[in-house]
Amino acid sequence: MYNFDEIVHRKGTDCIKWDQLQKKYGDSSILPFWIADMDFFVPKAIVSGIKNRASHPTYGYSFASDKYYSNFIGWNERRNGLPIKREEIISVPGIVCAYSFIIYGLIGSKGKIMFNTPIYDPFFKVTEEHGCEVVTSSLKKKDGIYQIDWEDIEKKFKDGVDLFVLCNPHNPTGRVWTYEELERLGNLCIKYKVPIFSDDIHSDLVFEGNKYIPIISISEEIKQNTIMAMAPSKTFNLAGLKSSYLIISNEDLRQKISTAIEKFHVGVNLFGLKSSEIAYEFGEEWLEELCSYLKKNAEFVVDYCEKRLPRVKAYVPEGTYLMWLDFSDYELSQNELMRKLVEDSGVALNDGSNYGKEGEGFVRLNIATPKAMLKKGLDLISKIFN
Ligand SMILES: Cc1ncc(COP(=O)(O)O)c(C=O)c1O
Repeated sequence: MYNFDEIVHRKGTDCIKWDQLQKKYGDSSILPFWIADMDFFVPKAIVSGIKNRASHPTYGYSFASDKYYSNFIGWNERRNGLPIKREEIISVPGIVCAYSFIIYGLIGSKGKIMFNTPIYDPFFKVTEEHGCEVVTSSLKKKDGIYQIDWEDIEKKFKDGVDLFVLCNPHNPTGRVWTYEELERLGNLCIKYKVPIFSDDIHSDLVFEGNKYIPIISISEEIKQNTIMAMAPSKTFNLAGLKSSYLIISNEDLRQKISTAIEKFHVGVNLFGLKSSEIAYEFGEEWLEELCSYLKKNAEFVVDYCEKRLPRVKAYVPEGTYLMWLDFSDYELSQNELMRKLVEDSGVALNDGSNYGKEGEGFVRLNIATPKAMLKKGLDLISKIFN
């Protein structure tokens, strides 16, 4: 049994979430529920593995071990029924930088890149930084659940799109796309010759009753049209160690992206490699307990809102530790909403409008924190918003 209720004091560890509150929100004393990492200790096996390696005080040039690959491959076979060949894997320091390499190697500076909004904000920024055009397709809430607008996507594909970015599970809505949705999307991309970048960074964080399906497992054709990204960073709270994976079956795509990455001479550092290797071998039991803890936290938030913040609409996400809270009933401008949260309530959540125009009236809440902390934050909000 892991104790996720333990309060972990992170201030003074140079972590962005706690130590850059002043810089980001203008107040270092508020409670943070923003940026996507967790207020939990990582699995003990990872800590001792890193300490063990660190105790040999030579940190020279290193390479990815056989176990680094086989543990990741084994994890995907066991948990996702996904066979991956070693030669299909490219190690990258992070998924946002991998996205940048993909644009550089595949699209250039004049392409059109589409994604479903609201979405993780760096997709806008990186796309625009490369000079590419952002094409958005809004997710539509039907029967209380965010869904893809198929007609809109197809219409925009007809006008020409060079890359589709899929986020599975989806940040910030928490959707875990179903087989039918992925199959339809994958086939639509094939029909219009649009390659897919599938960012599956949250794929291990899926709650009971939902199943994560890698889009590349649907068919060989879809696999050949897709670049997929995975990482232990969200799963095991290792984002600061900068270690992620691209899985690219199509040799031509792989070649283009490898060539782009080689130009920048970047790689994963020694501790990133070591922590990934250990996490995929020893982290499973910890992860199972984490997911049930997170689900309970999400249910707690929904229950709290129903009883004590009835004007805030919340739902339990299918995956991720991010909740997409709808404050639109207050009819506040986004600036005023954020001001009331930060200055009056004393909590730091992510501004929903960063995720696209659909995020007006919304905020993103990070629930990967002990329940007591979450309750404290909600109490602060309810004092002001009631
Ligand atoms: C969907 C998604 N992709 C990528 C990232 C960041 O990945 P990295 O730190 O590897 O760049 C995040 C972090 O929150 C995310 O939610």
